[in-house]
Amino acid sequence: MSASHAPAELSSTTPDRNGNASALDGLGSIAGPVRVLRPRRAAPADAVRPTRAEVNLANLRHNLRVLERAMSGASKPQIWGVLKADAYGHGAPAVARTLERTGIPGLCVALLEEAVELRDAGIRVPILVMGGYYGPRREGFEEILARDLVPVVYDAGQIERLANLLRLEQRGRVGVHLKVDTGMGRLGAAPSELDAVLATLAKHPEVRLDGLMTHLACADADDLGVTLDQMRRFEEIEQRARRFGLTPRLRHASNSAAMLRLPAARLDVVRPGVALFGISPCPGLAPDLKPVIRVRSEVVALRTVEKGERIGYGHTWEAARQSVVATVPMGYADGLSRQLSNRGAALMRGQRAPIAGTVSMDLTMLDVTDIPGARVGDEVVFLGTQDGPLGRATISAEEIAGLTGTIPWEVLTSISRRVPRFYREP
Ligand SMILES: Cc1ncc(COP(=O)(O)O)c(C=O)c1O
Repeated sequence: MSASHAPAELSSTTPDRNGNASALDGLGSIAGPVRVLRPRRAAPADAVRPTRAEVNLANLRHNLRVLERAMSGASKPQIWGVLKADAYGHGAPAVARTLERTGIPGLCVALLEEAVELRDAGIRVPILVMGGYYGPRREGFEEILARDLVPVVYDAGQIERLANLLRLEQRGRVGVHLKVDTGMGRLGAAPSELDAVLATLAKHPEVRLDGLMTHLACADADDLGVTLDQMRRFEEIEQRARRFGLTPRLRHASNSAAMLRLPAARLDVVRPGVALFGISPCPGLAPDLKPVIRVRSEVVALRTVEKGERIGYGHTWEAARQSVVATVPMGYADGLSRQLSNRGAALMRGQRAPIAGTVSMDLTMLDVTDIPGARVGDEVVFLGTQDGPLGRATISAEEIAGLTGTIPWEVLTSISRRVPRFYREP
């Protein structure tokens, strides 16, 4: 097994005298520098079990083209792809590399750690760190400067700390994006704090306001009233910034839903996430999008179960007839929701087979009585399309979300780290 099953590796901004980083130093609060954890995921080389996620990079490029075409008009905004949470479960380095090669002008992540992972993977385009958390001391901003990342700021303290660091390190100007809260109520300068934040930026021209951003709470709702209201507030905030002598070059607000539905919200940059991965943020929007990830495994055991016999944890499934049950090495620890127990399905030989009994941590059973010719080694698809001798069938993230009471975003980001990602370039 390769080292990728080891605990997350630690990266150090300031190694010790021997140039080594000790694991204890990663705790930061004990002593020494704060270190940035790099996310780690099972690598294809670790794949002994046949459970894997296949990522189709051609479909990713196709989706980017679909989004570009959807915005053909007089003023074309830049697309900065949102690759937070390991590119919505698809593997951020490979996704970023593919988008960078298409010439994408920028990328967005939530965490500093995620941005560091992309820089370590050799990604050179601007990366916006949207979460705005750089730790209580200055090491987070040191990492931002060292890696040439674009920080999002939203309070005066962050701006002061960055300005202090620039002075200490005798660095030139650094560009930031200011996040403002126009109605999401989550992150961003609140209306009551805005003038103080703008005044702090005006006082420290070395912290250059390159971008002004907000996030929309209801861009996928039937009624766009809330979104229009947020956009009006955003425009007022931009005017306020101008009164402080601040003229952000890149204004942005749109997620996938807003960029597809509301041309007025596109501004200078749009930030699509889920649409890049082939999921329409609202039913019927951009029907040409293609799913990018497919999760598959194989049957490892088959058994005949007599009528009246029960199987699995809690014996929640009872054979209504003599049945054939297939066992597949994919469970809730891989991201297959336990709520799919006795409700969901998987694909075998190009046809649906219902999940039989409780999804367990590592294994799931399927009732394959109606799949003629089922055998050990048959491919089983939990997410995506399968062509087989019995036909062609698809299980979408939307379908799973509907069955489990969640949204496709959560279905994608739940595919766990122990499922290795394999990349296809058809
Ligand atoms: C600040 C911000 N911008 C853009 C996005 C992308 O959203 P979506 O995946 O709906 O396109 C997200 C994701 O939630 C976000 O948090």
